[in-house]
Amino acid sequence: MSGSGSNLQALIDGGDPDVELVTVLSDLPEAPALDRARRAGLPVDVVDWSGDRADFTERICQAAEDARAEALILAGFMRILAPSAISRFKDRILNVHPSLLPSFPGARPVESAIEAGVKVTGITVHFVDEFVDHGPIAAQRCLAVDGDDTAESLHRRLQVLEHETYPEVVGALARGELTVVDGRAIWT
Ligand code: GRF
Repeated sequence: MSGSGSNLQALIDGGDPDVELVTVLSDLPEAPALDRARRAGLPVDVVDWSGDRADFTERICQAAEDARAEALILAGFMRILAPSAISRFKDRILNVHPSLLPSFPGARPVESAIEAGVKVTGITVHFVDEFVDHGPIAAQRCLAVDGDDTAESLHRRLQVLEHETYPEVVGALARGELTVVDGRAIWT
């Protein structure tokens, strides 16, 4: 994925008074999101991937809890958290993915959409469950794929949708306007 930290930037720039970004965590010391966070004056923490998912998950959750985080907001996070995170942050982990899930989960969603020749694609913000790119869908936005789109050009336009949508969803979660009931995301 782009991994430029642009979704974090959208959350920072959105400045929603109901959303407090208490810490920015990454397993990659060179992640651009960490620089964006530092520029915005946010605390950062690098949690090294230890090769052991349970241990890594424990340290991510602990770092988040130490920062008094109430939710985990993932973007471009290429590690799979152990189920313990799903129970510790029950219905409070969100992810953004550049396809209309359940189509094209996985690491190459934009390339896969182009290869499949779909005419419409989009982005999904979803609650995270124990499966990859899976869980109650909070919001989706779509756009038309142009005949001359490359994965790069398409991903650029999809990211505009991500930057509009993700802060809205995070704000709704913070305000209690978005919950999970019987495995479905409900807006109230
Ligand atoms: C986004 O396209 C997101 O959908 C995917 O990874 C990318 C991360 O982009 N999961 P950024 O680091 O927020 O710019």
